[in-house]
Amino acid sequence: MGAAQAVALGPVGRVDPVRRPGRRRGVRGRAGRPLIDPRFIAFEGIDGSGKTTQAALLAEALEGRGLRVTRTREPGGTLLGERVRQIVLSGEPGHLTLVAEAHLFAAARAELVERVVRPSLAAGRWVLTDRFLDSSLAYQGAARGLGIDAVLDINASAVADCLPDLALVIDTPVGAAAWRRSAASDRIEAEGAGFQGRVAAGYRVLAARFPGRIRLVAGDGSVEEVHARVMAAVGPFL
Ligand code: TYD
Repeated sequence: MGAAQAVALGPVGRVDPVRRPGRRRGVRGRAGRPLIDPRFIAFEGIDGSGKTTQAALLAEALEGRGLRVTRTREPGGTLLGERVRQIVLSGEPGHLTLVAEAHLFAAARAELVERVVRPSLAAGRWVLTDRFLDSSLAYQGAARGLGIDAVLDINASAVADCLPDLALVIDTPVGAAAWRRSAASDRIEAEGAGFQGRVAAGYRVLAARFPGRIRLVAGDGSVEEVHARVMAAVGPFL
């Protein structure tokens, strides 16, 4: 991983990268007409926020417009990612030290970026991911207390310049999200409502710090109402 890539997240993490005009060349159709640039969109939120449903609905809507979509998730989406998923979601609360946990998520992210995100974008496919960097910033950085800047540093070489064009935080009240989750909690969900409240607060801090890249989407109302808000947020890219 070259120094240039590591350096790239420095300003990216602290200033807001937003659209990066000209970063990717527009895909051209057969007639040479420019088509819509593929975008990288992350769905974020507390456990049970409804982001997975919303990612599926956006994928359907994009495909309905003839766009090609790669869907993935974190932790997961690659061989290493799925193994990391087993490690971080199982066991007792506290079985991993905080720094080790943050590095495991970052290692899985590095694999996802190189094996899934970059190749898909290069092939003209939109990438929709269920969680990405901002999950680490909200969970490990804010809620667990490692600090947002410390977690940005850990992720610098994993992500480099490959940040989502848009991270949509489905902002669902903690009580409503808890009700939606399945009865069997994984290790992180088992931390309880206080923890989820700190994650939600972390996402709000992030949205205020990176207002161009991270957007809060109200998670109340019907699935269709939330989907309409998601489409409104994605609209400028279409
Ligand atoms: P998952 O079952 O995928 O939950 P969800 O459907 O809510 O995404 O579990 C992922 C858990 O891992 C979730 O509690 C959030 C947590 N997580 C982190 O703490 N840091 C991270 O960087 C990522 C990607 C996830």
